[in-house]
Amino acid sequence: MGVLLERSLREDITVRIESQRGLWPVEVDPGQLEVAVLNIAVNARDAMPTGGVITVRTRNCPDQEIEGLDGDFVELSVADTGKGMSAATIRRVFEPFFTTKDVGKGTGLGLSQVYGFTRASGGDARIASEPGQGSVVSLYFPRSTNPLHVAAEAPEKAAPLPAPPGFRILLVEDDDAVAAAVGAMLTELGYAFTRTANATAALEALEAGEAADLVFSDMVMPGTMDGVTLAQHIRARWPDLPVVLTSGFSEAADAASREGWRLLAKPYRMDALAAELAAARAEAGKA
Ligand SMILES: Nc1ncnc2c1ncn2[C@@H]1O[C@H](COP(=O)(O)OP(=O)(O)OP(=O)(O)O)[C@@H](O)[C@H]1O
Ligand SMILES: [Mg+2]
Repeated sequence: MGVLLERSLREDITVRIESQRGLWPVEVDPGQLEVAVLNIAVNARDAMPTGGVITVRTRNCPDQEIEGLDGDFVELSVADTGKGMSAATIRRVFEPFFTTKDVGKGTGLGLSQVYGFTRASGGDARIASEPGQGSVVSLYFPRSTNPLHVAAEAPEKAAPLPAPPGFRILLVEDDDAVAAAVGAMLTELGYAFTRTANATAALEALEAGEAADLVFSDMVMPGTMDGVTLAQHIRARWPDLPVVLTSGFSEAADAASREGWRLLAKPYRMDALAAELAAARAEAGKA
C-alpha cells in the first residue's frame, strides 16, 4: 500500500513502512483492510496540518489476551507525529458520528468503520495518544492457522473481466480514503479514471466534455445532489452513458435497485467491482 498511501496524503508527509519479516497470516477482507488503513492514515494527515511522519508497522504478538481471546495476534499500527488526542476524545473516537472536524470536513464514521471491521474480523482496535505527542492506532487480528493457498487461488482470480483498452470511468466519491482505495482497484482492473468529490462536480465535468465511458458514483454524499439524482440527470442528458451506483446504507441501496439502477453494495471486493462494471459495460454495448 506504500504507493497508494503516498498518493492519498500530502507532499509534506513522509510515509514509513516497517514490516516484520515472517509475519503470520491473518484472515481479513483485503479491500476492507485497505480502506481501514487509509482511513487511519487520512486522520493522521489531518492531525498534521504542517506535515510530519506516518509510520505503518506490522509485527507478530504471541500469547495475547484480546477481547476474551487468548492466542497469537498480528498487530498493524499506524503512528503519526500530529497533534494527538485528549483522554476525553480517545474515549469517544470509535463512536459513529463522533468528530471534532468542521461541518462538511468529517462525518465521524472513519474510525467507527475501522473498529467495526476489526471486531468483525475477530480482532480489536486500540488508540494510544496524548495531546501534542502524536497518536498510534493499533489493529490486532488473530493469527490464522489455516495454510496459505496463494498459489492455488491466484490463477482463478487473475484476469477478472479486464477493462477494454482506454475505457474511462468517472468516479464520484466524497471520501478521500475510499476514493483512493477504489481508484487502486480500478487501476488494477485496467480502467483509467478521474474522480470528482460530489455529484454537482461530476455533472460539471461531463458538461465540460470530460471523456467518460461509465460513471461510478457513491449515493450518499455531502452537497445538494445525491447519487440517484445524478444518475437521473445523466440518463436524461447522456442516455448511452452507463451509471453504476454504490452505497453502504442498505435502505438507500434497496430504494435505488428497486428503481432499476445498477447497484453495488458497500463494502465490496475487487472481483465484485469487476463483475458489476463488466455487466454495466455489456448492458450498454461497451463490452
Ligand atoms: N491520528 C489522529 N490524531 C488526532 N486526532 C484524531 C486522529 N484520528 C482520529 N482523531 C480524532 O477522532 C475523531 C474521529 O475520527 P473519525 O475518523 O472517526 O472521524 P473524522 O475523521 O472526524 O471523520 P471521517 O473519518 O468520517 O471523515 C476525529 O475527528 C479526530 O478528532
Ligand atoms: Mg477520519
